Amino acid sequence: MKGIILAGGAGSRLYPLTLVASKQLQLVYDKPMVYYPLTTLIEGGIRDICLISTPQDLPRFQQLLGDGSRFGVKFDYRQQAKPEGLAQAFKIADTFIGTDPVTLILGDSIFNAGDILSQVLTGFNTGATIFGYHVNDPERYGVVEFDADGRAVSIEEKPKAPKSNYAVPGIYIFDNEVVNFAKMITPSARGELEITDVILEYLRRGSLHVHRLARGVAWLDAGTSSSLHDASAYVQTIEKRAGIKIGCPEEAAFQQGFISLPRLEEIVRLMPNCEYRDYLEQKVVAEAKRVQP
Ligand code: G1P
Repeated sequence: MKGIILAGGAGSRLYPLTLVASKQLQLVYDKPMVYYPLTTLIEGGIRDICLISTPQDLPRFQQLLGDGSRFGVKFDYRQQAKPEGLAQAFKIADTFIGTDPVTLILGDSIFNAGDILSQVLTGFNTGATIFGYHVNDPERYGVVEFDADGRAVSIEEKPKAPKSNYAVPGIYIFDNEVVNFAKMITPSARGELEITDVILEYLRRGSLHVHRLARGVAWLDAGTSSSLHDASAYVQTIEKRAGIKIGCPEEAAFQQGFISLPRLEEIVRLMPNCEYRDYLEQKVVAEAKRVQP
């Protein structure tokens, strides 16, 4: 399974900060936004990751994430010259995907979902698997409608009159057909290759599975200053209460066996003194040594 993090877009809703730094590099409580989707992919066992961003912002992501060895993964950086839709990612990453299935996650998608995403990811076979998440404001999203048996019957992009409260969150798992579908679809009225049109192809062929996320799962999108603040407040509340971080890719990489304990210790030693380092040193490394001296 390959992974794509799409971190493009003009970020106009976070202006003026986005004049100098992309949305997905903004701080969500104690770490850059992109750390959260990156952690989700690592938790799902994905090691080959293509990060797509604008020509201006891509060097910043390279500076932040490097070649991926710090997280036991390999990054392939690609440019999206113009924001022409989420489905464009599959065309940009065509040669990266090769013949593999692929998970696309949006760079502003923050999940606190326990093991469920990694379970679905590792159990994936064919077709497409997307998720449904109950929200208060479905008109802002792709919206999925279910029949009485819980099967998905329609998906609409930002409908004025939503047929349900189930939004499609920004993580999508596809088999290799997605590359062909992305090449087949045409731009929507807003001039974008819509991910919803790709999903509809799978629905028509009867190979779409929609996993309804349970109550208690958190999916936050941090696209506006207000939702960014909400996301930070949520992360702070959970982290302070539990003493465990959300969206810490080094920790996830260690737990996945992508990096060894000595390697994690080396990575930590190279960090400046900060709360992030303290966490890795005093919680993650210390706990690993306690369990396996
Ligand atoms: C995009 C998708 C939409 C999805 C949303 C999740 O919306 O088009 O279907 O529900 O991401 O964040 P956009 O970011 O273009 O508003």
